[in-house]
Amino acid sequence: MPTAIEQELRPVAPSKLSLRHVSKIFRGQSGETLAIDDISLDVSEGEFVCLAGPSGCGKSTILNLIAGLEELTSGEALLDGAPITGPGRDRMVMFQEAALFPWLDALGNVLFGLKLKPNLNNAERREVARFYLRLVGLEKQENANIHELSGGMRQRVALARSLAPNPRILLMDEPFSALDTLTRETLYRDLQSIFSKRRKTIVFVTHNIREAVCLGDRIVLLSSHPGRVREIFTVNLPRPRDINDAAVATFAHQITETLTQYLETPATKEAVL
Ligand SMILES: Nc1ncnc2c1ncn2[C@@H]1O[C@H](COP(=O)(O)OP(=O)(O)OP(=O)(O)O)[C@@H](O)[C@H]1O
Ligand SMILES: [Mg+2]
Repeated sequence: MPTAIEQELRPVAPSKLSLRHVSKIFRGQSGETLAIDDISLDVSEGEFVCLAGPSGCGKSTILNLIAGLEELTSGEALLDGAPITGPGRDRMVMFQEAALFPWLDALGNVLFGLKLKPNLNNAERREVARFYLRLVGLEKQENANIHELSGGMRQRVALARSLAPNPRILLMDEPFSALDTLTRETLYRDLQSIFSKRRKTIVFVTHNIREAVCLGDRIVLLSSHPGRVREIFTVNLPRPRDINDAAVATFAHQITETLTQYLETPATKEAVL
């Protein structure tokens, strides 16, 4: 018989996602904005999909619809075949800013996501939380205050917190964009290693094309105003990939060329590249 912890730590089957003709209109004081228009996209179980494109093309909107944090205006968003009606612990979101609780230490932050696990007692929850802190390389920092941690370490805590409830899908919105290059590069390695160990479906938002090539199985390139799927690229390079690999750079260059062809103004181009 597996123990409660063994059962809890067992990788869960990743989910599949399907967006069918999804549009989202925001209604605000300045009128209506068609943020995304007729987006159709299938993400299979255990796939790592990157959403890339210029600022304002609807990357975060798509992620929030999948997370159940926003409602779509028309179309369908399906998780394992069932409509998404709200947030759930099967989908965890990680944002650009770690949004950690400063009054809790690293372990406390990871434990927070495990609060609602009825099958575990407190000691078991701590053990599960420690497992994820180890997975992100922070076993020595479990009692560190959040303000004592570097930006990279905070994002690691946030990653451990997102992984701890053992979600089927990880939704990541530019999680590394505020970090320095070296820290980012180690996180690319670690995220790929976690992805292969834990087998999750990941939807990862970025406007860094090289980052997308380094991490993704596929890259969905969006165009803006309104956000539409422009092109989908499959990345067949072997893993783990290094952001500085020549093959990664070459592929990124090809995608950037495509992007350049449809960006309307040099200013938008600058914002993306
Ligand atoms: N809550 C909101 N109310 C009104 N308009 C919104 C809201 N959220 C997003 N929008 C609009 O929807 C469009 C898509 O925004 P979104 O935040 O999804 O873009 P993004 O691709 O994530 O951009 P960035 O790369 O800058 O994060 C933009 O035109 C934005 O102004
Ligand atoms: Mg965004």
